[in-house]
Amino acid sequence: MRFDEAAATWDESPARQERSRLLAQELIPIIQTNNLKTGLDFGAATGLLSVYLMDHLEDITLVDVSEGMVREAGRKIKQLEAKNIEAHHQDLLAEPLSRKYDILYTLMTLHHIRDTERALSVFYNHLRPGGYCCIADLDQEDGSFHAEFPDFDGHNGFDQRALKVLMEKVGFTAVHSHIFFSIEQNGRQYPLFLMVGKRLH
Ligand SMILES: C[S@@+](CC[C@H](N)C(=O)[O-])C[C@H]1O[C@@H](n2cnc3c(N)ncnc32)[C@H](O)[C@@H]1O
Repeated sequence: MRFDEAAATWDESPARQERSRLLAQELIPIIQTNNLKTGLDFGAATGLLSVYLMDHLEDITLVDVSEGMVREAGRKIKQLEAKNIEAHHQDLLAEPLSRKYDILYTLMTLHHIRDTERALSVFYNHLRPGGYCCIADLDQEDGSFHAEFPDFDGHNGFDQRALKVLMEKVGFTAVHSHIFFSIEQNGRQYPLFLMVGKRLH
């Protein structure tokens, strides 16, 4: 629910803008090198990241379970006259889309989902053979990142090696990762990794 409340001011954070811009810089070469056309932004919120990619993909689908976020995304799409972006208020884990994409990307959302393996499997099923899954999320931390949210019941970031094992278990190949950004919060640094895997068949 707090995402609904945060939606109206979500884009105002310079740090959120910056992490999206830097992740887009990582994704654009993957899109260009592999001639990817269609993108799915899982947990897209207001579409901050996808706006940086809209000139590099032919069409983009945003999905988010927060009605407030999807409403803001819709407002932004209209304002930008972004004809190649559509936003869906949908829980992909409960209700998959009927189409497959060239690239699925997700920023700071996977740690909110308890069953990681299931989420990865849903990501896999939304990719066409040859498609790429790009997960950007918190590196493993001590729980202090969500300290202000006592009801948080997700993951305290991820151990990259363990996540890679899960990616491979659901079928992804050529899985690799690196740190691309660090969030500063309450005087501490929280590194974010980007993990990329390919659906081969
Ligand atoms: C920390 S925010 C990150 C949003 C955005 N990717 C960004 O970096 O600005 C996490 C988002 O994931 C969404 N979310 C959480 N669980 C989800 C699910 N099962 N399916 C889709 N979106 C989900 C939330 O509503 C929220 O908008």
